[in-house]
Amino acid sequence: MPGELEGKVSIITGGGSGMGRSTALMFAREGASVAIADVNDEGGEATAAQIEDLGGNATFVHTDTSSEQDVVNLVSTTVDQFGRLDSMVTAAGISYADYVEGDEATDPFLHPDAATILNKPTERWQKVLDVNLTGVMLCARESARQMMAEGHGGTIVNFASIAAYAPSPGIMDYCVSKVGVIMLTRCFAVEFGPHGIRVNAVAPGPIETPMTESLRSTGSLQSQGGGLPLRRMAKPEEVSEAVLFFTSDRSSYVTGKTLGVDGGTNTV
Ligand SMILES: NC(=O)c1ccc[n+]([C@@H]2O[C@H](COP(=O)([O-])OP(=O)(O)OC[C@H]3O[C@@H](n4cnc5c(N)ncnc54)[C@H](O)[C@@H]3O)[C@@H](O)[C@H]2O)c1
Repeated sequence: MPGELEGKVSIITGGGSGMGRSTALMFAREGASVAIADVNDEGGEATAAQIEDLGGNATFVHTDTSSEQDVVNLVSTTVDQFGRLDSMVTAAGISYADYVEGDEATDPFLHPDAATILNKPTERWQKVLDVNLTGVMLCARESARQMMAEGHGGTIVNFASIAAYAPSPGIMDYCVSKVGVIMLTRCFAVEFGPHGIRVNAVAPGPIETPMTESLRSTGSLQSQGGGLPLRRMAKPEEVSEAVLFFTSDRSSYVTGKTLGVDGGTNTV
């Protein structure tokens, strides 16, 4: 049976780890050729190699999604290699300014008081906005330009978060960036809809990825998802299923929407 994305070409940012990686693998299994974009070369190369081992087509393009030049290069390299572009998934993100460098001293999950707005230098706030919001805008815009030029429509799926709906100590910049992603998704859906390009978002709850490692290390029931109706965290693949839904024709009449994949967060 052919896969749901047979013959399609997808870019997945943040594909070197976590939900970006699980989505890249799922898309490849569904028949898509996948370009993985990440600042983490080792992780990105590893995901591409896993896909090749499965018999799929993949390439890794080193990309800082907050750099316009890198994102333009990402789209053109993908099209040079695979001949077209059908979908963009913007999973690249950081929970705090030094997340990629892994600086524990400034990790807001471990030191929430040190990361309050009053204590946070402006450049650290700006870095989170640059990656989580401007980066998503650049990836969505440049991929839409390419899809419009090709004239066959396409899909964009952004990563918001449950943090968009509730202020959380130490990660105000993250919360604000993710609210921005939800509105950006709606704005782009309006602008790109007439070109047959659908734009949706997922808002994951607590997911077992490197991003929640330090939170989980605190050992609180809340950090393990214990306070949620479903009483657990999720595996990255459970979010990728929703990303696949938004990318496949199964959601052909859905655009501008953000779907919580969150174990029932904020239900009661
Ligand atoms: N893990 C969770 O519980 C959770 C919950 C809600 C939302 N999210 C969001 O989901 C997305 C994926 O996160 P994850 O949990 O899989 O984390 P992760 O750390 O496993 O993956 C994030 C990836 O993004 C990459 N990245 C960071 N900055 C980048 C940049 N400027 N350019 C390119 N790549 C960059 C990292 O190198 C990493 O490979 C993020 O947007 C995150 O904010 C995560």
